[in-house]
Amino acid sequence: MKILYIGGGFVGTCSAAVSADSGHDTLVFDLDEQKMKKLASSDRAVIEECLYEEGLADLLIRNKERIRFTVDYGQVEQFLDVVDAVYMCLPTPEIGETGESDVSYYVSAAEQLTKALIKRNQGRQEKYVVIVNKSTVPIEMITATEEIMDKAGVKNYGVVANPEFLVEGKAIQGSIRPDRVVVGAWREKDFSVMRQVYQRFYNSATVKYIEVNPKEAAAGKLLANYVLFNKLAVCFDVIGRTCEAFSAVRFEEVRKILNTDPRIGTWGLYDSLYAGGSCFIKDARSLAHQLQTAGHGATLAQETYLANKRQLELFLSRAEKDAGMSWVGKKVGLLGLAFKQDTNDVRNSPSIDIVRFLLENRVAHITAYDPAATGYFQQLFPSNAQLSYTTNETEVLRGVDVVVVATDWPQFRGLADLLADDGSDSQDHPLIMDGRRIWQNRYADLQRAGFDIIAVGSPFLPGEKK
Ligand SMILES: NC(=O)c1ccc[n+]([C@@H]2O[C@H](COP(=O)([O-])OP(=O)(O)OC[C@H]3O[C@@H](n4cnc5c(N)ncnc54)[C@H](O)[C@@H]3O)[C@@H](O)[C@H]2O)c1
Repeated sequence: MKILYIGGGFVGTCSAAVSADSGHDTLVFDLDEQKMKKLASSDRAVIEECLYEEGLADLLIRNKERIRFTVDYGQVEQFLDVVDAVYMCLPTPEIGETGESDVSYYVSAAEQLTKALIKRNQGRQEKYVVIVNKSTVPIEMITATEEIMDKAGVKNYGVVANPEFLVEGKAIQGSIRPDRVVVGAWREKDFSVMRQVYQRFYNSATVKYIEVNPKEAAAGKLLANYVLFNKLAVCFDVIGRTCEAFSAVRFEEVRKILNTDPRIGTWGLYDSLYAGGSCFIKDARSLAHQLQTAGHGATLAQETYLANKRQLELFLSRAEKDAGMSWVGKKVGLLGLAFKQDTNDVRNSPSIDIVRFLLENRVAHITAYDPAATGYFQQLFPSNAQLSYTTNETEVLRGVDVVVVATDWPQFRGLADLLADDGSDSQDHPLIMDGRRIWQNRYADLQRAGFDIIAVGSPFLPGEKK
C-alpha cells in the first residue's frame, strides 16, 4: 500500500515507521524542515535528539527505503496519484483553557490536501483514496472532514476514523504489538482498504481488530483517555491523599489490597505529583466541552481535571505547610523535565509548573537534570542566572536546600544511595520532595540519615535529628 502521513510528530512518525516496517511505501509531510531532516538522517543520535522513542531509530534506519520525509508539497502531489490512504496526524490542542479542541491545524492541512486531491490523476481523480483521522478529534469531526472534501470538489474518497492509542515511551512496541486497532467507517469499501493497511493485525490472534462507525471510534478514543485520566486522579486525590492523611497507612501496602481485585486492575495505581503529557488533560477537557455544548453536564469530567491540577499545587505547598520552609532564596535541585520516563516530550510536564512556581517564589537558583528532555525544556526556559541545566544527575543533589523528583526515570532510583551515604556523614540535609515515590523503599534509611521527606502518598516524614 502507498500511505501518506500529514504531520510527522510523535504519532505521524511512529505510525509511519510501523507502516514502513509492515511493508508499505510511506511518505511523511510536515511543515517543520528541521524535524523532517533529522528524522530522515538515518543517524540514531540525530533521530533520538529529535524524537526519543525506544525502537524508533532502528525502524527508521532499517526501513529507510520505504519511508521518506518531506516539506515539499510537490512530492505530496505526485504521490497522491497512487496513494491508498492519507493519515491526518495533526495537533489538536485545546483553545486556551476552554476545553474546546483547536482543529485549525487539521482544517488547514485538510484544505491544502483538497487542492492536491482534485488535481490527482490529471484531474480525473480515478484513484480511490481514504482520508484517515489519526488525530484525536471531536466526535463530529468526521462530518466536518467530509464537508471540507465535498466543498472543494474532491471525488472518489472515503473518510475513516482510526484513533491512535500509542503510549509515549512505548510507542513503537505498542504499535507493533497493539492491544487493539480501532477502525471507524460508514462503508464496507473503506473498511476493506483499512484491512489491507492493517493486514499485519487483521485476523491476528493477539490483536483485537474493532470495526465500528467513525463517531463511535472518535468517542471511544476520548472516553478511553478520560477513564484512564480519571483513574490517575482517583489514585492521586483519593487513594494517595488517604495515605497522606493517616500515619502508618502505607501507599504500597494499600495498593496491594486494591490491585489484587481484577475489577480494579493494576494500571494507574502509582501515586504522582501530576498526570502531564499531550493527551489526557486536553482530551478530558475536550470531552467535557463537547458534552456541555450538547447540553449536558460534565461535572465529573471537569472535576478529574481539577483534581490533577490540585495535586501539583498541594504537593508544592507542602514544603511550607509540612516542613515550615520558605522558598525565598533557596537552592533547588530538580530531577526530571520530561512529563514521564522514557520520552523527551515536555508537553504539560509538571516541571514546567514547578519551574514557574519556583521562579515566582524567588528561589536563588534551580539546577535541573533530565537524561533526554533538556533540549526541549531549554526552549521554554533558557538558562539564566537563576536556572541552569547539568548533564550530571549527581550535581542536582550537591549544595542544594531542596531536591524535587519530578519524573520517574528509573536511573534516579540509585540516587537514594548517594543521598543516604552523603547524608550520614554530613550536616547538609536538603529537604527531599519525592513527587513519584521513586525512593519509597529508602524513606526509612533517608530519615535515619537525617533527611526530612515530603512524598506524594505519605504524611510528612521528618528526619532524625542528630
Ligand atoms: N502524542 C501522543 O501520545 C498521542 C497519542 C494518541 C493520539 N494523539 C493525537 O495525535 C495527534 C497528533 O499528536 P502528536 O503528539 O503527534 O503531535 P505533534 O505536535 O508531536 O505532531 C504534530 C505535527 O504536525 C505538524 N503540522 C502542524 N500543522 C501542519 C500542517 N498544516 N501540515 C503538515 N504538518 C503540520 C507539526 O509540525 C508537528 O510536527 C493529536 O491529535 C493528538 O491528540 C497523540
